[in-house]
Amino acid sequence: MEKREQLYEGKAKKVFTTDDPELLIVSYKDDATAFNGLKKGTIVGKGVINNKMSNLLMQKLEKEAHIPTHFVEELNDRETVVKKVSIVPLEVIIRNIAAGSFSKNYGVEEGVVFDHPTIEFSYKNDDLGDPLINEYHALALKLATKEEIELIKEYAFAANCYMKAYWKERGVILVDFKLEFGRLSDGTIVLADEISPDTCRFWDAETKEKLDKDRFRRDLGGVEDAYAEIMGRLS
Ligand code: TMP
Repeated sequence: MEKREQLYEGKAKKVFTTDDPELLIVSYKDDATAFNGLKKGTIVGKGVINNKMSNLLMQKLEKEAHIPTHFVEELNDRETVVKKVSIVPLEVIIRNIAAGSFSKNYGVEEGVVFDHPTIEFSYKNDDLGDPLINEYHALALKLATKEEIELIKEYAFAANCYMKAYWKERGVILVDFKLEFGRLSDGTIVLADEISPDTCRFWDAETKEKLDKDRFRRDLGGVEDAYAEIMGRLS
C-alpha cells in the first residue's frame, strides 16, 4: 500500500490517502505540542514509539476486549494503514487516579486513587480550547447520538479495564488516558487516533516516576528516556 496525497497534517501525525477510498495511511512525527499548541518541541524517536505502541494496544483491545478499532496494518516504523473514519469530535478521558486538569479543576492532590474510574468528554475544537462538556452538551451540539455516546462509554470503560490490568503486569500504573472514536462509512463506531505516551499518563508502579508526555509538558527532563522505558515494558 502506498501513500498518495496528504489529506491533513495534525500536531503529531500526517494523514495520507491511498488507492483504496476506505483506507488511509497515518505517519507519526516526532513533533510534540502542549497547552493547545502553545508549547512546541521535538521528542526524538517518539513517532516510532507511538506508532508501535498504539498498534500493539489497538490489536490487543480488538482481540481481547472486543473493541473495534481503525487499525489495519503496520507498514513500517512510523506508518500504519488505518480505516478511514469521520472523527467524532469528542475527547473521551478516563481517569483512575487524580492528576492533571482533574487535580487542578477540583483541588485534588495528584495521586489520589478513585473508588471508581471517571469518564469525561471534551469538545474537540482547538479554537475553543477543547472545553469540558457533558453528554447533554454533546447531544445539543449534535456531536454524536445517544446510542453512539452509550457505545463510546462502554468501549472506553472496557478499554480501561483491559489496559489497567495489562500495564499492571508490566509494573506500570495507568493513571488516565484520552481516546477518540470515529465512524466508518457505514456508521460503525470504532476506536481511532492513537494510544501512546502522548495520550496516556503512565507511572512506574514502584517509584511513581512519570513515563509519559507530562515530562515534556512540565519540563521534567528525561523525556526520550521515559518514552523508551515505557516502550521497553511492552516486550
Ligand atoms: P488532562 O489531565 O490534562 O485533562 O489530561 C487527561 C489525559 O488526556 C492525559 O492522559 C493526557 C491526555 N490528553 C491528550 O491526549 N490530549 C490533550 O490535548 C490533553 C489536554 C490531554
